[in-house]
Amino acid sequence: MSRITVVGTGYVGLVTAACLADLGHVVIGMDVDDAKIARLRQGDIPIFEPGLAELIAAQGNRLTFTSNPDEAYRDGEFIFICVDTPPMYSGDADLSRVWKVVDRLPKSVGHERVLVTKSTVPVGTGAAIKAELCSRGFEDIGYASNPEFLREGTAIADARYPDRIVIGADTPETQDRVAGLYERLCCSNILTTDVASAEMIKYASNAFLATKISFINEIANVCEAVGADVRVVARGMGLDQRIGPHFLNAGIGYGGSCFPKDVSALKQLAGNSGYHFQLLTAVIEVNELQKRRVIGKLRRYLGDELRGKRIALLGLAFKPHTDDIREASSIVLASRLLAEGATVVAYDPIATDNMRRLLPCVTYAASALEALQDADAGVVVTEWQEFIDLDWQRVKAVMARPLLIDGRNALHGAGLKELGFEYEGIGTQIR
Ligand code: UDX
Repeated sequence: MSRITVVGTGYVGLVTAACLADLGHVVIGMDVDDAKIARLRQGDIPIFEPGLAELIAAQGNRLTFTSNPDEAYRDGEFIFICVDTPPMYSGDADLSRVWKVVDRLPKSVGHERVLVTKSTVPVGTGAAIKAELCSRGFEDIGYASNPEFLREGTAIADARYPDRIVIGADTPETQDRVAGLYERLCCSNILTTDVASAEMIKYASNAFLATKISFINEIANVCEAVGADVRVVARGMGLDQRIGPHFLNAGIGYGGSCFPKDVSALKQLAGNSGYHFQLLTAVIEVNELQKRRVIGKLRRYLGDELRGKRIALLGLAFKPHTDDIREASSIVLASRLLAEGATVVAYDPIATDNMRRLLPCVTYAASALEALQDADAGVVVTEWQEFIDLDWQRVKAVMARPLLIDGRNALHGAGLKELGFEYEGIGTQIR
């Protein structure tokens, strides 16, 4: 059992703190936001992540929260940096919060401690932090990069059953100490490496997954042109073990808090180091175009003039099981439709409030059926199960025109056509 301070109680910090406490460690979560800490102390979890509130509640005294640095740093043998590193206008990662943590480490944090960075930071950040620590007389503090690979919606399972744990550390002793924290996870893939390589593994993994998505989206677009079906093509490709079946679902683009930010940051990192990462430039552009692809499809059915048309958006979150709308395709799609003069009516099971703040000009419905009422077209933006389970016969009766564009290839297209819908997916051929 170790004593751990987790700095930053956002998404990564809370999941990390809860999972480390669940492994038996004594964890204190620290944040500069007093209001957030007050809520956490009441058991009010400020983010939506299935199972997280229950997991935090189950930890009892093993997991506490504070906004007081003295209390936070008093006992922690390990200090985990879990603050966010949002993108700046240049595409670089904003490291100001990471540096604030390093700069404000109290003098009392001395020997035998290990500083562990979970936040996604550009390669070289760890070396810079270590140098800064040494210059301030903290040379005895060990340093490790221990990137997270958590997916929103399944973060608890991802933390409990990781494919791999990556630990990049300055010394073998620090590597062993950080690896020891995860002993009870029984993960067979613990990769210990240097700090820079660990930092790069995180970026390269996310950039590769994003590349896979943009690749299959382009294949989908070609499938549409030549009469093939991308779902069958993806299945055929995925059976090759060298390719694998994951992240080959074509759709209207990736979003979220990680892929867009990390792909840009890696491209920027390469550029800052004198290398032009051409492939990532294409990955980003393909994704942006893919988000707009629905507009062309709608035009083919409804005519060039979308002004006055009523378009229902089913789903706003960047993927199901989250209320996160960061970089969601729905934002671009809704904005484009509004710019064309269409009336946009949207529904999401949990992300509506977040979107309302961002796009007040959209009309928000209380159910999918209400959104589809009198609509000239319905667009599936997020593949929530409740859309798949809709009573489509009833939907057909309430729509002005039974036209569905399935941006996630989630619905049963052939069945819908039989019901009398006009249906189009992404890269699919439904006859
Ligand atoms: C991702 C990484 O998976 C995770 O390891 C990292 O730590 C954070 O970023 P997350 O952003 O939660 O996790 O979402 P993920 O499930 O990976 O999906 C990202 C986006 O890609 C979503 O918009 C999703 O709809 C899209 N996607 C995913 C596709 O379009 N096709 C696919 O085949 C898979």
